[in-house]
Amino acid sequence: MTNLHPDLDRVILSPDVIQSRIKEIARQIEKDYADEERVVLIGILKGAFIFLADLSRELQIPHMVDFMSVSSYGDTATSNGAVRVILDLRKPIKNEHVIIVEDIVDTGSTLEYLYRNLKWRNPASLRTCTLFQKKRESKEVPLDYLGFELPDVWVVGYGLDYADTHRTLPYVAELKSEVYE
Ligand code: IMP
Repeated sequence: MTNLHPDLDRVILSPDVIQSRIKEIARQIEKDYADEERVVLIGILKGAFIFLADLSRELQIPHMVDFMSVSSYGDTATSNGAVRVILDLRKPIKNEHVIIVEDIVDTGSTLEYLYRNLKWRNPASLRTCTLFQKKRESKEVPLDYLGFELPDVWVVGYGLDYADTHRTLPYVAELKSEVYE
């Protein structure tokens, strides 16, 4: 890849590789929900907005989208795992078939919080879909749909940011460690 930004070390996943994996995930979701009236995709802002846009346009079954935004207390490097909702769903999800759409699972604490929070609202079913997974210390919540496993480095692009930069790159790249250390 030419003209890589000086903050970036290398490209890990090209746009083509990402898009073809999203197609595979969409086909799997279509199969799994073929008998249901509709699905509700809940995108977790900000990181999942690009993945959600591509996944929802690929999906050939009736579905709606909604959004939540959560924030960890403290910065990512020192977060103690506590999470709070800063933007909630527009509609109740009682009796709906819900899929949480996340960008990346690192320790797993954000997804676990979301899973418990949404389960409590009595959806007909609840599954998780994440495009990327890193180390994932806590494995209480199943990853029903997973795009790629990534090395334990800071990655940016395709929705993922570093201090709100590099989010809109069409590929996923590794950030140079000297940028965040
Ligand atoms: P977890 O709660 O430790 O699983 O962290 C998940 C959240 O941390 C994700 O939703 C991202 O917002 C952020 N995150 C974790 N690793 C990365 C990364 O490598 N790049 C960008 N954001 C990340």
